[in-house]
Amino acid sequence: MVRFGTKLQQNLPNLAGVHHILPVLTTSISSSIRTRSFPVHQLARAIKQKTHWYKLRRRAVVGLGVSFWSQFMSMAGYLGSNSFLASARQKGVIEEVLKNVDWPEQFPFKEEDFQRFDESADSYFYEAPRFVTHIDDPAIAALTKYYSEVLPPSDTPGVAILDMCSSWVSHYPKGYKQERIVGMGMNEEELKRNPVLTEYIVQDLNVNPKLPFEDNTFNVITNVVSVDYLTKPIEIFKEMRRILKPGGLAIMSFSNRCFFTKAISIWTSTGDADHVMIVGSYFHYAGGFEPPQAVDISPNPGRSDPMYVVYSRKLATA
Ligand SMILES: C[S@@+](CC[C@H](N)C(=O)[O-])C[C@H]1O[C@@H](n2cnc3c(N)ncnc32)[C@H](O)[C@@H]1O
Repeated sequence: MVRFGTKLQQNLPNLAGVHHILPVLTTSISSSIRTRSFPVHQLARAIKQKTHWYKLRRRAVVGLGVSFWSQFMSMAGYLGSNSFLASARQKGVIEEVLKNVDWPEQFPFKEEDFQRFDESADSYFYEAPRFVTHIDDPAIAALTKYYSEVLPPSDTPGVAILDMCSSWVSHYPKGYKQERIVGMGMNEEELKRNPVLTEYIVQDLNVNPKLPFEDNTFNVITNVVSVDYLTKPIEIFKEMRRILKPGGLAIMSFSNRCFFTKAISIWTSTGDADHVMIVGSYFHYAGGFEPPQAVDISPNPGRSDPMYVVYSRKLATA
């Protein structure tokens, strides 16, 4: 039984008390770091060269991560004190993370866990379109293959899909279509160019987490490499539950890359398996979902971007 308890919570990071130095960090890192997504290790190298402060914090984070992970893993009875990064590559570890979790009664994260290095308006960060892909081709191919196995067949009458945190690509199978595929995102130019969408909405979910749809509208909600930018995840997951049809499927996928300055602190300070736990907790504490499950669809562990899916269905009774 995995106990995701208060001791763990105490080990989780927060940025309280470091805000006074955030401007130093954000102005000293190059603009490319602020506007491109990076694998965590590459980003760490780049920033490390820039600030003494980062060195200090990194050390703290590594210490924190190890204790977080070893506590988590030893409680789970898996790999003892191995560091997370080594163990995450072992086959089957990710799938185990959400099995039989003994969730604490209350959502264990605090407000400061959802702070970011860059707390300026997201509309500013996403103002210019980025016609790029945020994960490598094998990871995209793995996600598209996964979608081909779990999405309703193309062109099924009555099916509606929402791609949250969407851009100019949704990674659905080639030629995939449905009567209604809505994209929500931050950049209109990107959304306009996404060929799979039948409509789009620009909305900052960190300002307004209310999803502008009727109850029981969608068969599927997807969200690719973006769940880590949500600062009000429980409100949003409750909204997802509301707008999903009973039995509707929510698929959150992510890798180990992110826009570091815009990802929540609890994400940037923890590893892949922790991320699975964090996303699983969103489903659990939003309520009305089946127990969340995790799948490791990484195409080429260690050689291309990893790719993980945490998914759940809205309960038929919710
Ligand atoms: C790394 S990109 C991923 C885009 C796309 N899902 C993909 O796979 O290429 C992050 C996306 O999250 C969305 N996003 C970030 N912050 C957001 C916010 N506050 N509200 C709504 N969407 C947000 C942006 O639209 C952006 O396109």
